[in-house]
Amino acid sequence: MAAQIIMVASGKGGTGKSTVSVLLGSRLAAAGKKVLLIELDSGLRSVDIIAGAAGRTVYDISDVLCGRCDWRKAIVESPVYKGLSLISAPYERGNVQPQQLAKLTRKMAKHYDFILVDTAAGLGAPFAAAMVVSQMALLVLTPDPVALRDGHIAADVLYEGGFTNVRLVVNRVGPSTFDKGAVADLDECIDTVAVQLIGVIPESAALLKSTAAGEALPENTLAWRAFDNLARRILGQQVPLAVR
Ligand SMILES: Nc1ncnc2c1ncn2[C@@H]1O[C@H](COP(=O)(O)OP(=O)(O)OP(=O)(O)O)[C@@H](O)[C@H]1O
Ligand SMILES: [Mg+2]
Repeated sequence: MAAQIIMVASGKGGTGKSTVSVLLGSRLAAAGKKVLLIELDSGLRSVDIIAGAAGRTVYDISDVLCGRCDWRKAIVESPVYKGLSLISAPYERGNVQPQQLAKLTRKMAKHYDFILVDTAAGLGAPFAAAMVVSQMALLVLTPDPVALRDGHIAADVLYEGGFTNVRLVVNRVGPSTFDKGAVADLDECIDTVAVQLIGVIPESAALLKSTAAGEALPENTLAWRAFDNLARRILGQQVPLAVR
C-alpha cells in the first residue's frame, strides 16, 4: 500500500477546508479505504470537533514531529465517522518543517490508501509543508470574489511548485448564491481560479447542526450526497458534480 496524499487548501480562511477534509475522509473510509487525516493548522485545532472527537486528543502532530511520541499513539479514531483516523494540530502556535513531515508521511503511507492533509489559511508553513508531501491538492473555496481571487493565487503557487493535480471544490453553494450578483455562476468560479472543478458542496444547515452537536452528518442529506460524490470522483468514478 502507498497512500495517495491529498492536501486541502484555500488561501482565504474559513472556506470549509477542515469540514471538507473530515467529510471527504469519512466517505472514502465508508468506501472501504484506509484514511488518515492530519491537521496542520497549529493553534487553531478544529477537525476533532468536526469529527465528533473533541476532548479525545492526547498527542498531536507536533508531538509526533518533535519525536515526543510514535505517530500511532497520536491517532484518534472518529467516534462518528467509522474508519476515519485523525491526528490533530496542537493548541500552541508553531511551524511544521517540510522535511520532518516528509519523513513521517513516508512511514505512514505504507499503512493507508489516503492521507488527507488539512492546511491552514494562507500560504505559510502548513501550505508549504503539505506541498512537499502531497500528490494532489484540493482547493476548497466559497463562491465569493475574495475567496476565488485568493484561490487563484494559491493555485499559481501550486502550479509554480510543479503540481499538476489540482482540483476545485466550491463549498457553501445555496439556492440563491448566484442571484446576489457578486459571482455569476460556477463557470465564473472555475474561470477565476483556473482550476478544474471536482466538487460542489451545498450550504447545509444539517452540516452546521451535526458539527455543533459532535454528531455525524445525517445520510442522504444534500451535503452528505455531495461529499459522497466528491469521494467517488476522487476514486475515479463517473458521478455528477451537482446534487439535487
Ligand atoms: N457546506 C457548508 N454548509 C454550512 N456550513 C459550513 C459548510 N462548510 C463549512 N461550514 C461552516 O463554516 C465554518 C468554517 O468551516 P471550516 O472550519 O471547515 O473552514 P476552514 O477553511 O477549515 O477554516 P480555517 O481557515 O480557519 O481553517 C464552520 O463553522 C463550518 O461549520
Ligand atoms: Mg480549518
